[in-house]
Amino acid sequence: MNYFNQLNTLLDSSFAPYSGFNVAAIVVIRNGQVYKGVNVESAAYPTTICAERNAIHTAVTEGAQTGDIQEVHILARNTTKTLVKAYPCGSCRQVIAEQSDYDAIVYSYTSSTEVEQHSITELLPFAFLGKEL
Ligand code: THU
Repeated sequence: MNYFNQLNTLLDSSFAPYSGFNVAAIVVIRNGQVYKGVNVESAAYPTTICAERNAIHTAVTEGAQTGDIQEVHILARNTTKTLVKAYPCGSCRQVIAEQSDYDAIVYSYTSSTEVEQHSITELLPFAFLGKEL
């Protein structure tokens, strides 16, 4: 499934007055349900939350179980309003790894037809999954 149009619309909900970098994410869980997230920045900069984690946290809030996240679709736009390819930051990779059973696919869009896809094992090799905790 191609989520470009939904992501492009979702970008307008992003709150990024400090960086001017808008990010939208859509996650798909095992039962086919879809959850959306945008980055929400804060005047206290580190309080910012990324689009990917916002979407995953919403999925968990709505009942997704650990291991349910299957797909993460991402679109970003920079200060000149140009769509740019974005990969999840390190913190988001950790959460994707844990909440997907380490088997999610991340889709990075630059247009409706240009989509790069990577497995979370490629993006975060040798992940700490907390099984030893
Ligand atoms: N950001 C995301 O939401 N997801 C990413 O994959 C990369 C970074 C946000 C955080 C911050 O609001 C802005 O992009 C610039 O770092």
